[in-house]
Amino acid sequence: MKKLLIIGGAGFIGSNACYFFAKKKYKIYVIDSLSYASNLNNIKPLILSKKIEFKRVNISNFNLLNQFIFDFKPNLIINFAAESHVDNSIKSPTIFFKSNVSGVYNLLLSIKKFNDKYKKNKIKFFQVSTDEVYGSLSRNFANEDYPLYPSSPYSSSKAAADCLVMGMAKTYNIDYYISRCTNNFGPFQFPEKLIPISIKRSLNNDSIKIYGSGNHKRDWIYVEDHIKAINKIILKGKVNEIYNIGAQNTYTNKFIIKRILKILKLLKNKKIINEFNGKIEFIEDRLAHDFRYAVNTNKIYNHTGWKIKNNFEKRLYETVLWYIYFFKKENK
Ligand SMILES: NC(=O)c1ccc[n+]([C@@H]2O[C@H](COP(=O)([O-])OP(=O)(O)OC[C@H]3O[C@@H](n4cnc5c(N)ncnc54)[C@H](O)[C@@H]3O)[C@@H](O)[C@H]2O)c1
Repeated sequence: MKKLLIIGGAGFIGSNACYFFAKKKYKIYVIDSLSYASNLNNIKPLILSKKIEFKRVNISNFNLLNQFIFDFKPNLIINFAAESHVDNSIKSPTIFFKSNVSGVYNLLLSIKKFNDKYKKNKIKFFQVSTDEVYGSLSRNFANEDYPLYPSSPYSSSKAAADCLVMGMAKTYNIDYYISRCTNNFGPFQFPEKLIPISIKRSLNNDSIKIYGSGNHKRDWIYVEDHIKAINKIILKGKVNEIYNIGAQNTYTNKFIIKRILKILKLLKNKKIINEFNGKIEFIEDRLAHDFRYAVNTNKIYNHTGWKIKNNFEKRLYETVLWYIYFFKKENK
């Protein structure tokens, strides 16, 4: 059975990936530094049922990471680990470069050492990146050859990691994939990003805060669809290629909040919740706030046949319900 190492598997997308890959034929180990954005409870059922194993490892610590990789001997590594919140990267950028750049460098160095020793058992590396590396686009859609124009310490750390992967892989002959996905939504996200924080504030009877005009546009993909695309790349994609992943659900932040409030109203009518606050407060804009992200996904479709079934409204409804129950449990 192939061995899969999931890094950052106690975070939002990583936890969802653990549930997805646990159903496939892999022996899975998960490592994570367990930062504030992680929640080990997310994947506890998988650990208790022995579908995955878990160890706390910070990828910034080369010796620990390298020892772990040499012990577990994975065939494939998927790296979800990163500091991921743009606002934090503006206030305290240093950790972003430690985890998102040095951490990826450590991973590549360890893979090089491993591949040098076990020439017939080389590790493949999957780096999970973001559409934010392309920066703000006015009307066009970025394909994978679009220049990197990051606007924040977060997106520049992710762009730097992409460059490291390409450069070190070329020199040391490491097989890799890079995916650049748009904004994810779904269960297990730490409540600091737009969707979960807005649901949390509204349920706590606080107003919902939106940066600037609220007209900033993002393409929203359900987290499981992102993971299905990653799986498709692993199965059918070409190594040493970059793949954009998107859903063509491009909406303004204001629109997203209005949809959430509509769902909360419906759930109140159904008596699933008692109260919520429907007030929106427009606050001072984020520094260097990108106005629009949009990716062209022809390449992943042409190489792997991956395309998305559009289910945005249904998935958003399920997501709002999931957070209602999650916050209720948290408050008990
Ligand atoms: N959330 C999105 O909308 C989105 C979109 C596109 C790409 N991405 C990328 O997907 C990946 C996962 O994002 P997410 O939203 O799940 O983030 P997250 O912040 O929810 O999870 C990141 C996880 O990585 C772990 N981690 C951080 N630094 C680490 C380190 N030094 N060593 C080991 N583990 C570490 C954290 O503890 C956490 O569990 C990131 O690389 C992010 O850039 C996210």
